[in-house]
Amino acid sequence: MTGAMRRPLVMANWKINMDPDQVQPYLQQVIPEVNKDTGADVAIAAQDLYLTQMVKETAGSRLAIAAENAHWTDDGAYTGETSPKALALVGVSYVLVGHFERRKLFNETDERVNLKTKAALKNGLKPIVDLDEDLSAYAKEDKKTIVLKQLKIALEGITAEEMANVAIAYEPTWAIGSGEAASAEQAEKSAEFIRQSLVNLYDQKVADQTRILYGGSVTTENAADFLSQEDIDGILVGKAALKPESFLKLIDIAQETGSASN
Ligand code: PGA
Repeated sequence: MTGAMRRPLVMANWKINMDPDQVQPYLQQVIPEVNKDTGADVAIAAQDLYLTQMVKETAGSRLAIAAENAHWTDDGAYTGETSPKALALVGVSYVLVGHFERRKLFNETDERVNLKTKAALKNGLKPIVDLDEDLSAYAKEDKKTIVLKQLKIALEGITAEEMANVAIAYEPTWAIGSGEAASAEQAEKSAEFIRQSLVNLYDQKVADQTRILYGGSVTTENAADFLSQEDIDGILVGKAALKPESFLKLIDIAQETGSASN
């Protein structure tokens, strides 16, 4: 299977940016364009506070809503956390799991990433499992070892069937929010390595169907380079997705790159 057979996924990650009064105008600007659908899936990850409103605003549209994190337990005494069951029940579609900022600032471990991935799948949410490359670890382990370890633990106990709803995001830590993206060639090498690892962990079919996203300082200038790589099937975008005009441009680029390779 070629990259062209995997539908590109463009995902904005608002993090904790965006004031309450900016949410609706942003969505209203983006929805009509996304509804024209020319071949890319589009989603926005936002802080929990906005998700219910966003699901309502986007009802009946092709724009999907994502959470930036979720707990691994459906109900219980976990003050301050968000239940994956509740997210699914209010109509959220995707959840980011193990984003670099969660790992670095909130001590998210590979084991917790695994628990959260399983809990998301059990509730019908589609997890985007984030793998990062931490340069500080390079001295001890090479980057392939780090990525492979994260991938293996994150997917432990997840079946080949369940993998149909999982996407992987590859994000070099030094590229996130730094304005210094990886080169498209570097990113493709890592994506290719991740896909080959999926062949080893599962089989060729799972590897062929799984979307692998690149994230880290994606802009309207460099997005086409990433999206035209064989093993890169989407982009996870922070800063460059904060303005609707720029997010729309990224969606256009994904649609053009997708249809050009079909
Ligand atoms: P950035 O963020 O595009 O601002 O680098 C990417 C991310 O955090 O996923």
